[in-house]
Amino acid sequence: MARWRIWRPRSRAVPFLSLLLLAPLVFTGLKAVNKIGLSSERNYSRGHVTFVTVFTTYNSDPAEASKLPSNVVTVGKHSYSKVGRSMAILNTFIGFIQVSMPRSNVIILTDPNSKLTHGSAVILPIEGNYSRGNLMLQRIRSYIAFLEQRLEELETVEDINHLIFTDSDIAVVTDLGHIFEMYPHCHLALTFRNNKGQPLNSGFVAVRGTRDGIFKAIEFFKEVLEAYHLKYMEASRMLGDQLALAWVVKSYLPSAFSKFSKHEAFTVYNWTPPEGAGQFHGMPLDVK
Ligand SMILES: *[C@@H]1O[C@H](CO)[C@@H](O)[C@H](O)[C@H]1NC(C)=O
Ligand SMILES: *[C@@H]1O[C@H](CO)[C@@H](O)[C@H](O)[C@H]1NC(C)=O
Repeated sequence: MARWRIWRPRSRAVPFLSLLLLAPLVFTGLKAVNKIGLSSERNYSRGHVTFVTVFTTYNSDPAEASKLPSNVVTVGKHSYSKVGRSMAILNTFIGFIQVSMPRSNVIILTDPNSKLTHGSAVILPIEGNYSRGNLMLQRIRSYIAFLEQRLEELETVEDINHLIFTDSDIAVVTDLGHIFEMYPHCHLALTFRNNKGQPLNSGFVAVRGTRDGIFKAIEFFKEVLEAYHLKYMEASRMLGDQLALAWVVKSYLPSAFSKFSKHEAFTVYNWTPPEGAGQFHGMPLDVK
């Protein structure tokens, strides 16, 4: 059964980076999912994993605010302002992690001007330009700044915390710590998307929390940032990072994408419900 495959690309600018590409979702409905084997019964709750996300709100920016009507979103009996809705989504993201991985932490990288506070997540302000048009670029910069900080901390503290960088509008439904246990040689893991143009999901990057893993992840993100600057600045503000990510991976592993374009059974890590009102009818059971 084709599940995860590990490549060890030849060293170039990122020396000996071991990249684990987690399988993509083949969205052909539940039939495809039935072919996927059951995951192992091992108990992975020992893993110490920190989730890292970039989140900011725009209420403090009068220029942004004036462009938008003060629209209120109603979900069931609750009404939310734009900011209230963003916070509700963030809280849901954190709530899922607390249930699925109760021993893990959440760190929110944010604009120092955002005045964000949170009861159960660590807020880490990082200088930068978090305007909407720049957010995807800034996200990579914030990741790099955070990782450089972690690398310095590792000089004095030898606690290994694996890192998972994610979007903040996802629901973590199972313990992902096993990625680091089952693939002890991987430094960095990415997930595929079922989309030819953007075959990798920039919304999920797992980084081994060792000095080696963090050092190499910094070099990797720097290459993605460079590719973004050089090649994809014209791309839509939402897509540039995904295109740059795919470009960098492809430059090391030309064969990676063709292997995964064969629609075989694999382990599904990221699953997106069909878009549109009333489209959500539950999630395939095997989704990680
Ligand atoms: C897994 O391990 C944790 C911590 O050691 C324990 O609390 C939990 O009950 C275990 N779960 C299973 C299914 O064995
Ligand atoms: C932040 O980025 C946006 C979008 O690229 C740009 O228009 C703006 O001038 C930048 N702001 C600063 C302070 O650099």
